[in-house]
Amino acid sequence: MRTIMEPFRIKMTEPIKIITKEERIQKLEEAFHNVFLLDAEDCAIDLLTDSGTGAMSAQQWAALMLGDESYAGSRSWKRFRDTIKTITNIKHVFPTHQGRAAESLLAMTRIKPGDVVPNNSHFDTTRANLEVAGAKALNLLNDEGLDPTLDAPFKGNMDIAKLEACIEEHGVAKIPFCMITVTNNTGGGQPVSMANIRGVKEVLKRHGIPLIIDACRFAENSYFIHEREEGYRGKALLEIAQEIFSYADAATMSLKKDGLANIGGFFVCNDDVWAEDFKNMLILREGFPTYGGLAGRDLEAISVGLMEALDFEYQTYRHATVSYLMNKLEKKGIPVMKPGGGHAVFLDAKAFMPHIPSLAYPGIALVNALYIEGGIRAVELGSVMFGSFDEAGIEQASPLELVRLAFPRRVYTQSHFDYLAEVIEEVWNHREAYAGLKITKQPKVLRHFSCHFQPLA
Ligand code: F0G
Repeated sequence: MRTIMEPFRIKMTEPIKIITKEERIQKLEEAFHNVFLLDAEDCAIDLLTDSGTGAMSAQQWAALMLGDESYAGSRSWKRFRDTIKTITNIKHVFPTHQGRAAESLLAMTRIKPGDVVPNNSHFDTTRANLEVAGAKALNLLNDEGLDPTLDAPFKGNMDIAKLEACIEEHGVAKIPFCMITVTNNTGGGQPVSMANIRGVKEVLKRHGIPLIIDACRFAENSYFIHEREEGYRGKALLEIAQEIFSYADAATMSLKKDGLANIGGFFVCNDDVWAEDFKNMLILREGFPTYGGLAGRDLEAISVGLMEALDFEYQTYRHATVSYLMNKLEKKGIPVMKPGGGHAVFLDAKAFMPHIPSLAYPGIALVNALYIEGGIRAVELGSVMFGSFDEAGIEQASPLELVRLAFPRRVYTQSHFDYLAEVIEEVWNHREAYAGLKITKQPKVLRHFSCHFQPLA
């Protein structure tokens, strides 16, 4: 059969309210033209993020009832630890309430001012946590990953020559660890190949620098390796994931992605000193090391979710949803970042709205048009999110103007994607009608979450 159907049926539903276009125009005005300030119930299809927005399975809901809420040494903790050890084979396991908590404790315990931390691309919270601790966060992405029109299998790969140059330039003493993010969220959800992870590890090993994997979407990355890298076809996703982690000395993870849970995170490491330092900071900030800020029932749901994310049928379906939307958009000539990512489709807003200059925010114009036309909530990854100011205080545009349509896991079905494609096509057909915007109010940091806009026409 050609149709890859959802490998589940639905036993509980949540109504979607579709308000009228006139109401959406008013809601967006009341939200100062910033979709982050909308009420979720006014969004028909919410693609703001794939983080913590997934649907749990019947097995996960059942596991919640087994939650052991003991403060120390609970049964749920042991199950959580054992599941993560099965996947990572890493010695010390620590729960945290979400990914950035693991990043923050890692930065607090391992970073000193002046350090340098390379990554293929740091996610914004990873970068912020490292920078707050005084480190410089470097992106050493392969050049292929920087070209949105290029269709290549592993656009998340780190540039190994750049890594060697970085070690040469800064010296081993300044690099407490190197990271690899799988998949590369900031660069379009693109995967990293096993050969690249192995290659990075070889260089680091020669210099005695530990490798930390940001594993948020490790199962999606494992599926890409299965599909695209020689020698992995037919292998279980668990086996592929185990090989990924075999090159790591430590890992951080937001379990809100491939943990298929609504909350949670972890830090794992092999080094006993790292573990001791992390544990002490964890007790201070998150909780006792056998719950780390999570309820016993969360630990149970996560233990089930992690293994479900490694289910081949599930990943086949998940990737089919991305390809389904990509094919529909490409057929209409709608500009998208190529190839589709593991968790999202990215529209190229610069090519979509060429009449809007970067500093009139074509990405925001597109995000707002999608909301007004169809109640779709997406997110801009362009000059508002990544723009900066030079020393003279003049605003600098971001090199890419992207709009991310992130797919919550197991939430939307094929007809939702058909509707989404129709809305995008409608906006595409009337693209000249949408105007740019100016910012009327903004905070100093992370402005995209709360700034106010005003349309220019
Ligand atoms: N690392 C990566 C690669 C991420 O994508 C995220 C979160 C984090 C770390 C932080 O995890 O949210 O649990 O604290 N990404 C979400 C997103 C928020 O929308 O892409 P967290």
